[in-house]
Amino acid sequence: MDFYEVIKKRRSARSFSDKIPPLEVVEKIIGTARLAPTWANMQGVEYIIIREPGMVNQIWQAIGQGNKFSSAPIFIVGIISERGSGKNAKSGLQYFMVDFGICFDHLILAATAEGLATCWIGFFDEKKIKEILEIPNKFRVIGITPLGYAKKEYEPTPRKNLEKIMHYERYKGNK
Ligand SMILES: Cc1cc2nc3c(=O)[nH]c(=O)nc-3n(C[C@H](O)[C@H](O)[C@H](O)COP(=O)(O)O)c2cc1C
Repeated sequence: MDFYEVIKKRRSARSFSDKIPPLEVVEKIIGTARLAPTWANMQGVEYIIIREPGMVNQIWQAIGQGNKFSSAPIFIVGIISERGSGKNAKSGLQYFMVDFGICFDHLILAATAEGLATCWIGFFDEKKIKEILEIPNKFRVIGITPLGYAKKEYEPTPRKNLEKIMHYERYKGNK
């Protein structure tokens, strides 16, 4: 699949078929996320792959979004510690969220290129997820995605027009 096709094809999927993605493909996807740029190449993002049905069930419940994701055969839980990335000394901005976002987006796009479906999940009970997966305290759980084969085709979701978000030379929007 061409790069732009992958970008267009990616959609957030919330129900999945029974088919389980092969482990080699899961490893290929994580291997691709690893190629993402990070602050000073610190590569602080780590991934926990949940495949055992009992564990998958616990994660789905800790996400707590009703029946959404209950059919997911696999979950990938992404973690990073605040010290796993840097801080811009001039602006004070912490970059761990940025590093995480780039890595997780690489992961999700690689999964799309492999014909797999994902959904970035940001709303979940972090404390419960950390307990279930025995994640050390220094880490934050920033994102989770189900990984599987989508049960249906999803229509494209709306996006803003370019004129609304593009400014030439100076900011031309509402101030
Ligand atoms: C940081 C982040 C957190 C998200 N959290 C959730 C979530 O908790 N539950 C959910 O169903 N979708 C979640 N989404 C998916 C968005 O709702 C979705 O990307 C958006 O509606 C656009 O749809 P699309 O991804 O199909 O293009 C999240 C997406 C992002 C980027």
